[in-house]
Amino acid sequence: MAGTAVVGLQWGDEAKGKIVDLLTEQHEIVVRYQGGANAGHTVVVAGETYKLSLIPSGILRRNVRCVVTGGVVLNPATILDEIDGLRRRGVFVGDNLMLSDRTHVIFPWHLEEERLIHQRVADGEAIGTTMRGIGPCYRDKVTRSSAIRLGDLYRPSILQRITSIVAEKNALLGLKGGADFKPLDAAAIHRQYQQFAERLKPHVGDTTAFLLDALEQDKAVLFEGAQGALLDVDHGTFPFVTSSNSSGVGISSGSGVPGRYLKRVIGVVKAYSTRVGGGPFPTEQPNDVGEHLRQRGNEYGTVTRRPRRCGWFDAVAVRYTARLSGVDALAVALLDVLSELPEIKVCIAYEIDGRRLTTFPSHVEDLARAAPVYETLPGWRAEISACRRLADLPPEARAYVDRLSQLVGAPVEIVSVGPDREQTMFASDRLIRRA
Ligand code: IMP
Repeated sequence: MAGTAVVGLQWGDEAKGKIVDLLTEQHEIVVRYQGGANAGHTVVVAGETYKLSLIPSGILRRNVRCVVTGGVVLNPATILDEIDGLRRRGVFVGDNLMLSDRTHVIFPWHLEEERLIHQRVADGEAIGTTMRGIGPCYRDKVTRSSAIRLGDLYRPSILQRITSIVAEKNALLGLKGGADFKPLDAAAIHRQYQQFAERLKPHVGDTTAFLLDALEQDKAVLFEGAQGALLDVDHGTFPFVTSSNSSGVGISSGSGVPGRYLKRVIGVVKAYSTRVGGGPFPTEQPNDVGEHLRQRGNEYGTVTRRPRRCGWFDAVAVRYTARLSGVDALAVALLDVLSELPEIKVCIAYEIDGRRLTTFPSHVEDLARAAPVYETLPGWRAEISACRRLADLPPEARAYVDRLSQLVGAPVEIVSVGPDREQTMFASDRLIRRA
């Protein structure tokens, strides 16, 4: 066995949590390797809904080890809340959760910075971040001088580090925030983070060594992507992106596991498109169709509850991200949301300045000018959320899935028609060998 990855191919919220949960059945280890509490993964087991943001979805299966690697930015208060919430519901969290000592820690100054210095691009359009301190923490990681990693919390020098960083941040944030900024108290932050560190201590270790050992011993490891490839800081719709490599290319840098261990990449897509936050979205439908998708798909952010922007499936964008992420197979989620639409459109090309393109533009201004070229497919009336085999789907729904596969250039192996584990269909037993 070796590494399998589950990666979102759109702008996040593709239902990766559910697909990861299904695949954990045949994996011993599940890994979160980038992002932070900006992610919201929803898993429904036997009618019970679990919302996870930092802990890998594998935690819901007792025999799975869950690992958060150094590529993640960790808010200790958030993960402790999550641990407490899971324990209250009877989910075991103990030696099955491991956190990298290389993980960068989110501090109150990161949250303040995001609150006071709105992340806007040059022309003033807001990126519309999740306000979880993600960008400021990754920036400190890259600039290095004022970054603190989880392992640093256990060193004697930590009080000194927090004190000097707080002095620097107070000066900077005081200038930006004026009367709206209350200076941070280094001693209080130190005390609070010492308590967090104490509670997290049993989970902290060298996850890189752990994962390399596991893979060398042929253990089955599942990498759980957060956000989606179009939000990748290097390859997404920059600058309207998150601050980590959320496409498949981020797995190695985030986890310390070289690409040769990655044997399978599953790209998860919605049967349509959504986006939260700013930035171009060529197939957006700010009309009745978008409203249908939002209502039927409950398209409101898991983390921020913001209404998501909704639109048709964009095969140009997904073909790009599927290639970028080295996708072997697709999982198509939320197909049931399209039921009852008389016709369904798929974007097969863009027209930019009179030129027809089937490649994804590298500059966001070109994407903003792209007029989608649509292919129209017939819809279906029947409710499909009770279907359990692909053969049970109305012919129009099957034809739609087949067309997506053709346009993206990857086989569809999983189709999901509802949030529950049971509401899933498999094209073959290649990905999941069912009992
Ligand atoms: P940040 O990750 O909070 O810095 O936000 C940057 C952009 O990524 C914003 O447009 C967010 O809405 C978007 N984003 C971040 N995390 C997620 C996610 O898990 N799902 C969908 N969008 C996300």
